[in-house]
Amino acid sequence: MFRCIFSEGQKYKNLLNGRWVASRSGTWDQIFSPTDGSLVGEIPAVSPEEAGEFLETAVQAQKAWTTIPTNERAEVLHKAADILLREKDVIAGVLMREIAKNRKSSLSEVTRTADLIHFTAEEGKRVTGESLSSGAFPGFHETKLSIVNRVPVGVVLAIAPFNYPINLAASKIAPALVAGNAVVFKPPTQGSISALYLARVFCEAGLPAGVLNVITGQGRMIGDFLASHPLVNMIAFTGSSKIGKHIASLAGMKPLLLELGGKDAALVLEDADLSLAAQHIAAGAFSFSGQRCTAVKRILVLESVADKLIEKLLPLVQKMTVGRPEDDADITPLISNEAADFVQALIGDAIQKGAKLLAGNKREKNLVYPTLLDRVTVDMRVAWEEPFGPVLPILRVKTVEEAVRITNESEYGLQASVFTENVDSAFRIGAQLDVGTVQVNGKTERGPDHFPFIGVKSSGMGTQGIRYSIEAMTRSKAIVLNFH
Ligand code: NAP
Ligand code: G3H
Repeated sequence: MFRCIFSEGQKYKNLLNGRWVASRSGTWDQIFSPTDGSLVGEIPAVSPEEAGEFLETAVQAQKAWTTIPTNERAEVLHKAADILLREKDVIAGVLMREIAKNRKSSLSEVTRTADLIHFTAEEGKRVTGESLSSGAFPGFHETKLSIVNRVPVGVVLAIAPFNYPINLAASKIAPALVAGNAVVFKPPTQGSISALYLARVFCEAGLPAGVLNVITGQGRMIGDFLASHPLVNMIAFTGSSKIGKHIASLAGMKPLLLELGGKDAALVLEDADLSLAAQHIAAGAFSFSGQRCTAVKRILVLESVADKLIEKLLPLVQKMTVGRPEDDADITPLISNEAADFVQALIGDAIQKGAKLLAGNKREKNLVYPTLLDRVTVDMRVAWEEPFGPVLPILRVKTVEEAVRITNESEYGLQASVFTENVDSAFRIGAQLDVGTVQVNGKTERGPDHFPFIGVKSSGMGTQGIRYSIEAMTRSKAIVLNFH
């Protein structure tokens, strides 16, 4: 059982300097279940006037936290990971209700996050500096020695999206903390209650007051205040390209780690193992109903194997279960009616322009059935826009060069998959693709969490991933010894 008391009935509080607090104005945002519209709970709607205190107390707390030996900081993280695992069923239950993620994926988000935190705690102990002798540079001889350490940046502002309120929060909080930073965390509004459970885990693990402050409220109300605040030393953001670019415009010279949208393509070549490709594409496109930045969002298949691929893919889509997260359905309600309207508009545009509907195009409120569209062409919106829903367009191409060209014409550059039995083709094509990561014979995906996760173009800047995030949340500090 949890020890930190963080709610009164269905009113969940913010973590400020070690205390659980409501907003001073007494204003709350209500969070409703995307599945049945029932009230999941209420969260403080903090105003910009109150938000400054979350940053000020973090600045003070960081000064002491950074002096604590890394192995002791790591111990707090290990403890948090253990508590998270202990409470996995409770927290997965909250995820199911709050963001309609199915049971299996909710549990997997929690256990994956416990692994991430343990791994981060260990990786944090291996952060080292270096020393450089001036003797290596012409004209200096051994007159100087530069001792270069990694030091924390200070206060990290962490902002997470609704689709991974636990994992994409912890992937920022844990590296920041182990490196000696304080964190002010702004969760997604839909996802805030899950995120406050994560904060409760860190609180119970013994994190000193103020080292992690969690502030809820709608991004459009408090986001600009936080992102542009001079007490924030670095911003780690995951979310849409639109908000990411907006944050970048406010951030001034603050270092940024931005993981944004995607339009990942699966390129299926003539010599691909089509059964393997179909399985990976189906799982990659439709898990969490397509609400993943790394979802396979379009297939670019060589015309000669397109029918054979569809023969294998269509049955996998048709057998997907559609329904409630609690029943572990494959396809569950989207996060909002507006999200479903957007997906429906993309499907409608494609069909109206001549795409062939193979499955789906059925909707009950925000529950959109898995939709497969063939003969999608480049004049259709779904060829380019990120649906963040269960719709998968198939574009038939005549050559590999055409597939590469269409992949690269996207404004996004997160990941791409190449399905081929020829390793030379995989590497040749992989080198030509303008994306952060190319998956060979596998679906596009972020994990495991210690791998580098990179978005180029509108998909982001900087590299996420345990060691990479620690590097991004620390900076070099040099002290030069001069010999006389
Ligand atoms: P979103 O609308 O961009 O929101 C992301 C976060 O930004 C939320 O916490 C949101 O708070 C906050 N926010 C909104 N306006 C803000 C502002 N002016 N200043 C600061 N923060 C602000 O994205 P989403 O709908 O949650 O997530 C879906 C998008 O995220 C998709 O485009 C997806 O591809 C992308 N994504 C990318 C990755 C990746 O790693 N590349 C991972 C997951 C998701 P509120 O909820 O209060 O509005
Ligand atoms: O939604 C974006 C996430 O970074 C995707 O992570 O590939 O592990 O689902 P995932």
